[in-house]
Amino acid sequence: MTEIVRLEDLGHVFSGRRGETPHRALHPLTLSIGAGQSLALVGESGSGKTTLLRLVLGLERPTEGTVLLFGTDPAAPKEEALRARRRCGYVPQDPFGGLPPTLSVLDTAAEPLRLPGSTIGRSEARERAGDLLELCLLDSSLWTARAGLSLSGGQRQRVSLARALVADPDLLVADEPTSMQDSQTREHLVRLLQERPRRGKALLFVTHDLVLARAVTERAVVLLQGHVVEEGPTEALLLRPLHPYTQALAAALPRLGQPLAAPPPPRGPALPGGCPFLARCPHPLPACFSAPPLQDVAGGHRAACWRGATPPAMQDETQKQENERR
Ligand SMILES: Nc1ncnc2c1ncn2[C@@H]1O[C@H](COP(=O)(O)OP(=O)(O)OP(=O)(O)O)[C@@H](O)[C@H]1O
Ligand SMILES: [Mg+2]
Repeated sequence: MTEIVRLEDLGHVFSGRRGETPHRALHPLTLSIGAGQSLALVGESGSGKTTLLRLVLGLERPTEGTVLLFGTDPAAPKEEALRARRRCGYVPQDPFGGLPPTLSVLDTAAEPLRLPGSTIGRSEARERAGDLLELCLLDSSLWTARAGLSLSGGQRQRVSLARALVADPDLLVADEPTSMQDSQTREHLVRLLQERPRRGKALLFVTHDLVLARAVTERAVVLLQGHVVEEGPTEALLLRPLHPYTQALAAALPRLGQPLAAPPPPRGPALPGGCPFLARCPHPLPACFSAPPLQDVAGGHRAACWRGATPPAMQDETQKQENERR
């Protein structure tokens, strides 16, 4: 299997503007995505999902560790990095900021086919863009409108998706690409996303929603305050979550005919060096003042929780009992 993304001990600290304190957005993490694979990043607002995508695409330079995109550093000022980035389609989270203000919807969607060096002519590019816009349910009456000015948020999001898919990229990076869609449209777009890995393409998908993650991806990573707290098959994360944070996410999903879950306890600040969920955990242990490592529980399902592992205090106790027995 061809490796498309490789992140090795990747961490990131935003240095902050004048007077601001630096902010650690990501703690070191390692993961990879191959051709035909799909991975979701799930987690609450501010957990580091968009930062991770921007590092993968070379839009941000990491402060720690390495990013390899198609085997090369995507942030390097090299022709090779440009080629790697051009093999990616990107749906940014904010559909209001990401589209050129002066181009029509059709030319916006066609733009990735018209980059310098492209052998595709204008009319062919427009024809393909039209096919993609139709696939993304953008009515042709809107194709002459200015994409960055005259569309609703949901329409812009669909133009972004058409633009990201028009060159049939080897990696699609999509940051909450259906967040502004009604449920029927979302279902249609989900089918487009599901097709990517089936066709041997890779998909990196961000969502807050575990159910959506399960519909779209095979594997998922749960981020909390820049830490990976759980990772594994998306279905297992939804149906058998191991970390109390993932359990809380799964329990908070609305269910037809059932009352809404109680609101979460207020978010406390992370204790430096401790578990990022400690302030909110319903069953903390003394060991949680030190951050638990990610441990494999079953078949690539890993969680960073002392309850699923043996905390240091309990190890000490076990060791003491062992010594007493001798
Ligand atoms: N350019 C920046 N400078 C400083 N801090 C930043 C910058 N971009 C993001 N951050 C901080 O890094 C953290 C992670 O941000 P990020 O945008 O990755 O979160 P997210 O998981 O995508 O959240 P959301 O679900 O709200 O989109 C946040 O605390 C944010 O305030
Ligand atoms: Mg984000």
